[in-house]
Amino acid sequence: MSTFLFSAARQPLFNSFVVLSFFLLARVVPLVAGQTRPNYHITPATKWLNDPQRPFFLGGEWHLNYLYNSNWDKSNPGAGGTEWYHATSVDMVQWTPRDVAIKKYQPNPSSGAILGDVETGSAVVDTTNSAGFGQDAVVAVLTQMQDGIQQQSLFYSNDAGYTYTAFDGNPVMPNPDPSAQAAFRDPKIFRDDEAGHWVAALAEGTKIGFYKSTDLKTWAFMSAFSPIDSGVDLGTLECPDLYQMDLDGNSASRTWILAVGGNGYLRGMATGTAYWAGTWDGTHFTATGSSPRWMDEGPDFYATVSWENPQDKFGSRYAIAWMNSWDYANTLPYYGDFEGQLSLVREVKYQTINGTPTLVSMPIAGYETRFTRPVSVSNKTITTDPATASLPVDLPGGAYVIRAAVSKADGDDGNKVYFRIKSNGNYNTTIGYDFANSQVFFARGSDGSASDILVSGAKQSWDAVRTAANPAGGNTVKLAIYVDYNSVETFVNDEGVASLSGLIFPNQGAEGIDVEADVGKLTLTSFTYASFAA
Ligand SMILES: *[C@@H]1O[C@H](CO)[C@@H](O)[C@H](O)[C@H]1NC(C)=O
Ligand SMILES: *[C@@H]1O[C@H](CO)[C@@H](O)[C@H](O)[C@H]1NC(C)=O
Repeated sequence: MSTFLFSAARQPLFNSFVVLSFFLLARVVPLVAGQTRPNYHITPATKWLNDPQRPFFLGGEWHLNYLYNSNWDKSNPGAGGTEWYHATSVDMVQWTPRDVAIKKYQPNPSSGAILGDVETGSAVVDTTNSAGFGQDAVVAVLTQMQDGIQQQSLFYSNDAGYTYTAFDGNPVMPNPDPSAQAAFRDPKIFRDDEAGHWVAALAEGTKIGFYKSTDLKTWAFMSAFSPIDSGVDLGTLECPDLYQMDLDGNSASRTWILAVGGNGYLRGMATGTAYWAGTWDGTHFTATGSSPRWMDEGPDFYATVSWENPQDKFGSRYAIAWMNSWDYANTLPYYGDFEGQLSLVREVKYQTINGTPTLVSMPIAGYETRFTRPVSVSNKTITTDPATASLPVDLPGGAYVIRAAVSKADGDDGNKVYFRIKSNGNYNTTIGYDFANSQVFFARGSDGSASDILVSGAKQSWDAVRTAANPAGGNTVKLAIYVDYNSVETFVNDEGVASLSGLIFPNQGAEGIDVEADVGKLTLTSFTYASFAA
């Protein structure tokens, strides 16, 4: 599994151009037999998308890049390699597609040495001109891979991230052991204000390596964090992220968090974003406990990046992830000629939930203004017959949000509630809640297209029911279920104490929405459906 993850992730992933934002797309891309393209998620106009790159704010707008491969082909998913595609936004909800910002296959400008595809890394705004490319130059350090050898290259931009120049000293972090083709990738750079230098976290197989630099060009190794030394095997680690957050908004409880992309199959999890709280002494990260927790327990929340909320540096962050998994990324029945989407942008906080410090998250408030025509009901009985609660959803579309509160009230003898979405009577995706075990779950094993065509390990991984504990427990649960043509993201309670994100490939036109109990009855305290206004 981890070998698969390793090799798949290291395939030449994938030249490039036009990627349109979802708003634009919904209007201009001709769609065959009904819409299938997500309405409020970032997708490429054509071809392949994977890892998001941490956004930065400059020139009055947010700049997001993602890995893009214009050579991708359904019948040959390994063709070509990736590069950085650039999109901008003022609100992080509506994104304007720009162009490829960092092109693949750029050689060293002096020696001509071939350095390969452009993969994951991170960009910083160099406000102090520490690298000498100018004040407010955007400096990106990212993995280039050629012949399977991963090294870090530097590209800089003097036009706020629209175009970049390759540094003539590339690679700035040569692979220390190319004969072993060691994993050496995904540099995530941040400014360590206390130490007065830059720090890069790199994914190095089962370890995360930490490096320091004063000029972003010369890097020195400091330490490694190795969860496998304490028995935690998450396969090949990717996309590290190290940052500080104030627990419950209290600066006296400021805590370092290290997050990584990992494979949780040995722990009953899918691939996802694992994290540890701990300490950073300027050189080493020490986790508070060995067991990682997960930012999202759904199957498709990977390669996550997070970034500061400029209004609340340590109190809240934003995050976005690639919604996919290497378990099936190359075999999914992609609709049309594009493959992949990013998650919604979330706001993340660090809160004590039932005694346990937890990263909680909810989609950013900006999405709310985009949902219209709400219909609501309250105090309905839910039974095993969907006709009982008869949801007033007579205009279901492909993109909407459901907000529901369900109670196991006095006299209620049901144990589980099932929200069936994208249903046509034979196929559906289920988001449910189990009161006995205080667990939310996500079942897409009969979603339609994907569940019907995937085989073997990919199918097993796709069909697995994913669960997340609701640490708040209790007899009432609130679910916010964000549904788009191609995905579902579920958040528990007002704070998002747990979340489950996953892709779905429903059959075209399968838009039914029902609610049922497993046995007996439960109470639908409140229910609101609102569709997304493109
Ligand atoms: C729902 O039921 C509760 C408890 O019986 C009651 O307090 C509340 O007013 C009801 N809400 C509506 C909208 O009828
Ligand atoms: C939804 O799918 C499940 C299988 O996951 C099936 O048992 C159930 O009958 C389906 N319900 C509807 C309303 O389609």
